[in-house]
Amino acid sequence: MVKALAPETAHPATGETRSAHCAGSPSLPEVPVIVITAPTGEICRQVLDTLLDGGRPVRVIARDPGRLAPRTRDRAEVVQGSHSDPEVLAEAFKGADSVLWLVPPNSRAEDIQEHYLGFTRPACDAITAQGVERVVGVTSLGRGYGGHAGLLSPAFAMDDMIESTGVGYRALAMPFFMENLLHQVEAIRTQGMFSMPNRADRPLATVATRDIAATAARLLSDDSWSGQETVPVIGPDSLSPDAMAEVLTEVLERPVRFQQADPEAYKAMMTRYGMSDAWAQGLVDMAIAQSDGIYDAEQRAVTSPAPTGFHQWCEEVLKPAVLA
Ligand SMILES: NC(=O)c1ccc[n+]([C@@H]2O[C@H](COP(=O)([O-])OP(=O)(O)OC[C@H]3O[C@@H](n4cnc5c(N)ncnc54)[C@H](OP(=O)(O)O)[C@@H]3O)[C@@H](O)[C@H]2O)c1
Repeated sequence: MVKALAPETAHPATGETRSAHCAGSPSLPEVPVIVITAPTGEICRQVLDTLLDGGRPVRVIARDPGRLAPRTRDRAEVVQGSHSDPEVLAEAFKGADSVLWLVPPNSRAEDIQEHYLGFTRPACDAITAQGVERVVGVTSLGRGYGGHAGLLSPAFAMDDMIESTGVGYRALAMPFFMENLLHQVEAIRTQGMFSMPNRADRPLATVATRDIAATAARLLSDDSWSGQETVPVIGPDSLSPDAMAEVLTEVLERPVRFQQADPEAYKAMMTRYGMSDAWAQGLVDMAIAQSDGIYDAEQRAVTSPAPTGFHQWCEEVLKPAVLA
């Protein structure tokens, strides 16, 4: 369902009425709109924290507007629906200059590549049809790796598909999100451990989602760029899972250890929890590629890392979650 909200409400930053942001309002001046997908998600809600204070009109695509932050509901135009729906995308991309594109994870997807491309195909059609100028995409580091990389490979196929439209594109290329550890807060709290199929002694590049959001907000607010580039966003550390456990031990002031999961046992556990076989295999294959150094070349090449270090993130985000 497509539902643009309150057509006569003035945008707080520009004074434009909301209907001015939609095509089909020929009497009103065209104001370039920034469109945000997945606005309730970890990255995109933090992008909105910044963009809603800026001078540009913002439009979000939300399946359930009731889940949006009140400030987003008040200050952004809302198109209701999923950003996998061509009709929703056609409405949302009307008059849009820039789009923040993120394919949501779906651990029940039976085909991981088709999950990413099934979202991206209609978006590419809408980008072309509506004349979107710039897309900032959430993707992974390691596009030059070559081999199969589990859940990371469909993200690279997504980048290829978006680039084939000729739109201006910045592929925000990230390593392991620090926030992934929030899924293991219970095990950290009650068992003093966290677990993944990654090698215990192999450095794993990380990034905090706040730094991804800051980079995305900067690019979306800037209409001077064109062409297609990869923008790596990588935190300053190079810690193995064992070294991360040492940081957790220090920050939480209690012993925390890392346990490397056996890939087959890990996959079986994930499917028992309802994950599709394909997604669970994608997680295992991703961990193998990470342990094989898929992030290494881009991490070595980074000259100005993202600001948030792992220790700082643990103090500010993980520790309050564990103590809650
Ligand atoms: N985790 C990592 O280490 C890592 C590393 C590199 C790249 N990435 C990429 O980062 C992305 C995930 O970002 P994130 O952590 O910010 O996401 P997230 O917090 O999981 O948010 C995804 C949002 O998408 C929405 N959503 C879910 N299913 C949907 C559907 N069928 N249609 C429309 N919207 C839907 C959900 O909102 P509602 O439920 O409110 O609709 C949810 O808030 C993925 O594309 C992943 O490939 C992740």
